[in-house]
Amino acid sequence: MLETGIDIIDVSRVARSIGNPAFLEKYFHPVEIAYCGEGAHSAQHFAVRFAAKEAVRKVLLSHVDTLSWRDSWIENDESGKPHLVFSEKLLSRIRIRAASVSLSHTKDTAAAIVLIDLEAPESKS
Ligand SMILES: CC(C)(COP(=O)(O)OP(=O)(O)OC[C@H]1O[C@@H](n2cnc3c(N)ncnc32)[C@H](O)[C@@H]1OP(=O)(O)O)[C@@H](O)C(=O)NCCC(=O)NCCS
Repeated sequence: MLETGIDIIDVSRVARSIGNPAFLEKYFHPVEIAYCGEGAHSAQHFAVRFAAKEAVRKVLLSHVDTLSWRDSWIENDESGKPHLVFSEKLLSRIRIRAASVSLSHTKDTAAAIVLIDLEAPESKS
């Protein structure tokens, strides 16, 4: 079953917190922290990854009781294209056949859309 999640956020919401290592550790995978760096566009990169996590939550929280912020993260390939990656812990609880993500950001706004193909999920509701 293919499900879609979408999220859009203000970059400023994330920009305020990225100087705090505890915030970064709670929400982001080390791969994401390394990618987003500390440059001029750092806040946009972090914000769009936060949006991706929220979009994933829109899909998966109908199917699992709990979801850590670090159960999903973004890795970029050599061309820059983003890919969704899921933790082993999550994959032991739910069967994900395939997933796709697209990200976009400006200096003010970041948006993410995800498509997740779940194998015969049991709805919580
Ligand atoms: C990729 C591209 C469409 C991004 O568009 P943009 O308007 O500049 O930027 P947006 O804010 O909409 O999107 C940025 C996001 O696009 C994504 N992106 C980058 N390269 C991508 C690609 N090849 N395919 C899909 N998504 C890509 C990234 O997730 C990026 O955000 P991130 O760096 O925080 O992960 C644009 O830079 C482009 O056309 N680049 C040409 C590069 C290209 O075609 N490379 C392929 C070579 S094999």
